[in-house]
Amino acid sequence: MDVLCFFLLLPLCRSIEVIVPDVPVTGILDEDVILPCSFSPPDRFSLQDLSLFWEITKLQQVHSFTKGQEQLEKQDPKFINRTELFLGQLLQGNMSLLLHKVSLSDEGIYTCFVNVGNSSSAAVSLQVAASYTKPTLHLESSEGLKPGDQVIVTCHTYHGYPQAVILWQDGSGKNLTENVTTSQVANEEGLFHVQSSIHVTLETSDTYTCLVYNPLLQVATHASLSVTGQHLSFPLVAVWVTIGLCACLLGLLVALACVCRKQLKQTCEEEQEEAASNEEHEENGELKTAMQPLKASSAEGDDPTTVE
Ligand SMILES: *[C@@H]1O[C@H](CO)[C@@H](O)[C@H](O)[C@H]1NC(C)=O
Ligand SMILES: *[C@@H]1O[C@H](CO)[C@@H](O)[C@H](O)[C@H]1NC(C)=O
Ligand SMILES: *[C@@H]1O[C@H](CO)[C@@H](O)[C@H](O)[C@H]1NC(C)=O
Ligand SMILES: *[C@@H]1O[C@H](CO)[C@@H](O)[C@H](O)[C@H]1NC(C)=O
Ligand SMILES: *[C@@H]1O[C@H](CO)[C@@H](O)[C@H](O)[C@H]1NC(C)=O
Repeated sequence: MDVLCFFLLLPLCRSIEVIVPDVPVTGILDEDVILPCSFSPPDRFSLQDLSLFWEITKLQQVHSFTKGQEQLEKQDPKFINRTELFLGQLLQGNMSLLLHKVSLSDEGIYTCFVNVGNSSSAAVSLQVAASYTKPTLHLESSEGLKPGDQVIVTCHTYHGYPQAVILWQDGSGKNLTENVTTSQVANEEGLFHVQSSIHVTLETSDTYTCLVYNPLLQVATHASLSVTGQHLSFPLVAVWVTIGLCACLLGLLVALACVCRKQLKQTCEEEQEEAASNEEHEENGELKTAMQPLKASSAEGDDPTTVE
């Protein structure tokens, strides 16, 4: 090689600089991603002089190009039909790789090797991200709640990657960090289902917001639950129903009392009357004549038909 360099390929025999990003590349699940890699091209070279390889870990060949064409016989099966070079830009030193339909198993460190007389390589790290669904919130045991009750508000979000950062906030935007429990469980695909619960003491009215932050995508989604209307309105209705029932009962009692009083009055009168007639019997004949017209008039009032 050194001999070749000296006598035949002098322009190609200088060290090659390979440039890759120094931060990991983020690919979105099911979308395409470009793994950037470029080399300083020699002054004059043809594609026939160029060999390049993309590999992930050892023995897994992702893509290769030698002797002026792509060589994909040894390509790892999971990359079949999923990789492309920008062939038109190879002479400019652009050996970036396009990877179609990224999956979680594509995460890893990819190495690009180049040989044009002299050789060099560099590594690119690929991270995969999947955005979380808009969270759903619900209140456990939503019936018969009143201010001061301890309740659990639960937030669910699905199919995200990597693990989420969950933040809870109240109606004024204040962070709620106490009494929060969060679990993140991966499904068979590796995507996370996040469940976060917060134990709170109910106020007369408050809003709880669950913020789901994907640290890789630097994107947050959120949802809020207001605990006034729906959940606290139930006991309010109950209060009014109770008041209404009480009013009805009171009315009934008053009516009953009136009827009783009337009845009582009547009995009293009757008793008085009876007492009077008893007295009459006890008295001697002097009063008898005096009571006579009273009896006649009372008979007249009781049954007017007898008068006619
Ligand atoms: C690559 O280039 C460096 C620096 O010019 C040189 O020392 C080295 O021998 C070269 N390697 C090959 C394999 O030509
Ligand atoms: C790759 O693409 C070719 C041509 O479109 C097709 O015949 C072949 O079945 C594909 N292979 C895989 C593994 O998808
Ligand atoms: C390589 O080519 C791709 C596709 O055109 C482009 O997106 C990328 O920026 C190029 N890279 C460099 C270093 O020029
Ligand atoms: C809430 O917490 C997050 C993360 O710890 C922080 O970035 C944010 O500034 C906090 N917000 C408030 C209002 O304290
Ligand atoms: C956390 O829960 C405890 C026990 O249920 C309760 O006493 C406390 O007030 C709660 N903290 C907050 C900030 O709600």
